[in-house]
Amino acid sequence: MNFGKKLIVGNWKMYKTVTEATAFVDGLIPKTASFKNPIFLAVPYTAIWPLHEKCEGTLVQIGAQNMCDAQEGAFTGEIAGRMLKEAGASFVILGHSERRRFFKETDDLIRKKLERALQDKLLPILCIGETLEEREQGKGEEVLHQQLAALFDGLQWKGEELIVAYEPVWAIGTGKTATTDTIEAMHRYIEKATKELISVKPRILYGGSVKKENAESILKLSNVGGLLIGGASLELESFVTIAENGESFG
Ligand code: PGA
Repeated sequence: MNFGKKLIVGNWKMYKTVTEATAFVDGLIPKTASFKNPIFLAVPYTAIWPLHEKCEGTLVQIGAQNMCDAQEGAFTGEIAGRMLKEAGASFVILGHSERRRFFKETDDLIRKKLERALQDKLLPILCIGETLEEREQGKGEEVLHQQLAALFDGLQWKGEELIVAYEPVWAIGTGKTATTDTIEAMHRYIEKATKELISVKPRILYGGSVKKENAESILKLSNVGGLLIGGASLELESFVTIAENGESFG
């Protein structure tokens, strides 16, 4: 699948029931019918199947926000990649900072999830990012390197696109977007580190307080391959405006 120059990914987090999710997509499909590039929506597990059914034959791709590292088994409350795949997910977000922070996910676990996602033929979107404290201590690049090295250790990348999302933890849900200079510099660093670690040029998404007002200036940066959007993806009008912006880059 060709993702276009700028990939727009909505991350709904723990918002929207099936009824709410369906209403959103009913509005989204006609508004994006003339698009050439796909739009990604990472939705709650319960909405994957109904939205997949609705979006079949459109460019809207449905994905998950997390998955278990095991293939199947006695893991109460977990969900397997193959279940997501069969329900219609084409991609999965892995290592989101909220998973790392609230659910104590480690680099090691995220690496295991990455392997499982690849085996289950889900396209992974790998989230990395430093906290405010780490940034203030001048450790931003070091932290990104540590996260990338753990994810890629010994990995033979055979997938189509390797998608990494740079999401500075201090910018998520805070209204504090990173400056374009910071985004450009950190993306440059991620690209260099990824090439050194696994000889692949990644597509790098930016995430953290992206709104319709600032999306364009971020998308204009040549080393921004798209956006991962939380809050602003929940509201149809703002998400469509950002998606149109992404689409305009070809
Ligand atoms: P935000 O979230 O856009 O609400 O800051 C981004 C994310 O968590 O992916």
